Amino acid sequence: MKTYKIAAIPADGIGPEVIDAGLQVLNALSERDGGFRLDVTSFDWGSDRYKKTGALMPEDGPEQLKAFDAIFFGAVGAPDVPDHITLWGLRLPICQGFDQYANVRPTKILPGIKSPLANVGTGDLDWVIVRENSEGEYSGHGGRAHKGLPEEVGTEVAIFTRVGVTRIMRYAFKLAQSRPRKLLTVVTKSNAQRHGMVMWDEIAAEVSKEFPDVTWDKMLVDAMTVRMVKHPQSLDTIVATNLHADILSDLAGALAGSLGVAPTGNIDPERRFPSMFEPIHGSAFDITGMGIANPVATFWTAAQMLEHLGEADAAKRLMTAVEQVCAQGVLTPDVGGSANTQQVADAVCAAIRGANDVTQQAVETARRSVAAIG
Ligand SMILES: NC(=O)c1ccc[n+]([C@@H]2O[C@H](COP(=O)([O-])OP(=O)(O)OC[C@H]3O[C@@H](n4cnc5c(N)ncnc54)[C@H](O)[C@@H]3O)[C@@H](O)[C@H]2O)c1
Repeated sequence: MKTYKIAAIPADGIGPEVIDAGLQVLNALSERDGGFRLDVTSFDWGSDRYKKTGALMPEDGPEQLKAFDAIFFGAVGAPDVPDHITLWGLRLPICQGFDQYANVRPTKILPGIKSPLANVGTGDLDWVIVRENSEGEYSGHGGRAHKGLPEEVGTEVAIFTRVGVTRIMRYAFKLAQSRPRKLLTVVTKSNAQRHGMVMWDEIAAEVSKEFPDVTWDKMLVDAMTVRMVKHPQSLDTIVATNLHADILSDLAGALAGSLGVAPTGNIDPERRFPSMFEPIHGSAFDITGMGIANPVATFWTAAQMLEHLGEADAAKRLMTAVEQVCAQGVLTPDVGGSANTQQVADAVCAAIRGANDVTQQAVETARRSVAAIG
């Protein structure tokens, strides 16, 4: 039996609530599958640790994580700690330190969940947003001078490198090629940003030559928001910079019903380091502790994690169970239901175990008929 070492970092706000639910369904899956087990180590890193010790994680945190096959992450951010400290103290050092340069964000309208868009239902919105996750606007370059004085300056420099842009374009074209529609939209802002973004466009055109079977087009990011709302069916795979995709994927989550159903994988495609899987939402201070956080995004990212680990059947089984439960109307309040987090987790675990019963019955029937023939 294969054992995967998983580092769980629930962190802040609703993070621990959704990661707990996620681990329950992962355990149900490994019991159901029987072919793999998960050896989970939980880390208490996050804002509480920062308030006690001055650091969100220990100095050798990334080094400790290297021993794991994958990282299962909740959310980081607390009302009484500045957001740039929490983000740069935990999540970004892991993404950037492990060169998880492809941030993969699938979005679709799950059965039973209503999009806020009129006349748009399941099947009309089925996208994967690929976010460049290692440089661009979040490269951390810039600074402040003359702090607090009237002449103070602050710079935030977006960095685009040929290596960085080429590898994310290649990843996105390859992903588009693997999907039935073979359709990619490259998001840009090269009208106003005439250096890095023009290079971004040029490299997209160069890389496209390696994928003649992929149809692709280019959209300015502002026009892209309109297209996502007005013509969601016209999109399939989307690639965008770190900042653009950050914003567009929140819009995508909302159009699919709620931020609570939107997952993300921070992938190191070369598998030099563990990849990290998380819901795209944050700590959600407004619902923390109420037990009503939607765990679907976390279940979906758990499926992404299983897929990445090579357990594609288990990943498919998990998503089938999630879709069944959503279609049955077992939903949290953010998507119009009245169930709580635990009830959704219980329903998904039951659906997973139910599939087990059906399969076992089928196996038993087959065994009996073979015995009868024999
Ligand atoms: N990856 C991350 O760790 C991450 C991402 C975004 C924001 N944050 C941090 O989280 C904190 C709060 O940020 P925010 O309010 O801008 O964004 P948020 O995603 O935490 O919440 C936005 C809204 O969506 C709702 N929501 C989010 N997830 C939900 C879920 N699973 N179920 C039901 N409703 C859900 C919230 O209740 C809230 O109304 C900030 O400190 C921010 O920096 C962290």
